[in-house]
Amino acid sequence: MNALTSVVSMADEVPYRSPIAAAWPCTHDGEFAVGGMALSQVVDAVGGTPCYLYDRAYMAERVTRLRRALSQTVELYYAIKANPMPAVVAHVARLLNGLDVASAGEMRVALDAGVAAEKISFAGPGKSEEELLQAYASNVLVNVESRRELHLLAKMSERSGRAARIALRVNLPFELKASGMKMTGGARQFGIDAEDVPRSIAETAALGLKLEGFHLFTGSQSLHAEAVIEAQRKSYECAREWAELTCEPIKSINLGGGLGIPYGDADARISEEEVVTHLNCLAEETRRDFDGVSLVLELGRYLVGEAGLYVSRVIDRKVSRGKTFLVVDGGMHQHLAASGNFGQVLRKNYPVAINGKLFGNEVSSVVGPLCTPLDLLASNAKLGRAEQGDLVVIFQSGAYGRSASPSGFLGHPAVREALV
Ligand SMILES: Cc1ncc(COP(=O)(O)O)c(C=O)c1O
Repeated sequence: MNALTSVVSMADEVPYRSPIAAAWPCTHDGEFAVGGMALSQVVDAVGGTPCYLYDRAYMAERVTRLRRALSQTVELYYAIKANPMPAVVAHVARLLNGLDVASAGEMRVALDAGVAAEKISFAGPGKSEEELLQAYASNVLVNVESRRELHLLAKMSERSGRAARIALRVNLPFELKASGMKMTGGARQFGIDAEDVPRSIAETAALGLKLEGFHLFTGSQSLHAEAVIEAQRKSYECAREWAELTCEPIKSINLGGGLGIPYGDADARISEEEVVTHLNCLAEETRRDFDGVSLVLELGRYLVGEAGLYVSRVIDRKVSRGKTFLVVDGGMHQHLAASGNFGQVLRKNYPVAINGKLFGNEVSSVVGPLCTPLDLLASNAKLGRAEQGDLVVIFQSGAYGRSASPSGFLGHPAVREALV
């Protein structure tokens, strides 16, 4: 054997471990740790698998770091849709400026968390009259997305003699490049088309509504700082032009969010530093251009996604025609996103590892108990060798997990959740 082949074969034998899993803290016994305790102990404490476990300190660290780095002119909101567990919402709400909700149900969670109505905003393309009335009654800021909403809120305002607080959500004439989900540009169900904004501003004034600003959410899950920066810059410029048309000075410009997290081992992280630096420049510009206007950043997964694990237990280990399947007690009914069925164009494995057997080269597929081939949590993943009873851990599971999954499908028990 020459020197080169010996290096290659040694490298082949190095057991694989997902870099994302490798960054997660472990106990001295080589188990993953959650809230400073061994994972298996936490699982027992919450009553077993399957379960979502959210690390309280990890979440706090992420939110606090970002909040500290940003100018006070930038308000940081949490979009509850990412993870509406009341304990999570209350935990992060204490550390940031406000909450964004997408339904009356989420609005109740936000208000129950003790957040002032003035610090809650409500977006969504199909708000029912009842939802609008609840938002109006609570004095929550409504991101208005159509003329219908404008007129309903005007009727409510007239009846009670208090103007509804609104922002205009706008379908901008450009998109968030290089993102997992684009929500502006072209024809969209979200917001009012940019070309109709001057007319909507005039209508808002005629209807006696309190126009506080603009909601400009361009998209989600971008790992490219330059794309996010470009969208924020263009959004700001649009808002600055429209602000000249309002009767009363505006109070806020919501620049959306868009910051993504790595879901695959090969995904690069977005440069938080570049985004923050640019936002702080925009904040300075805002202070020069306006009096007392805040920029709002509305983030979901970036704040909570990496702090969550989804844990299931191997109930069977099967080999079919040479291929190993780890059949676990959790699945797509509880973690649709990990199965690749939550809007992903190409299915990619989430980072996954076997607790206590953190390195490995055995190729296995992790499947759930549902009677459908869609119930696939990891396909041909390199894992430590797992046996019946072992815990399978799926990382990056703190956002769009339980609440974004079809839990009623096939009648399995509900998943447990804990903030540890
Ligand atoms: C209006 C709005 N705000 C915030 C978010 C949160 O996005 P993310 O979790 O990617 O930060 C979304 C996601 O779809 C959204 O539609």
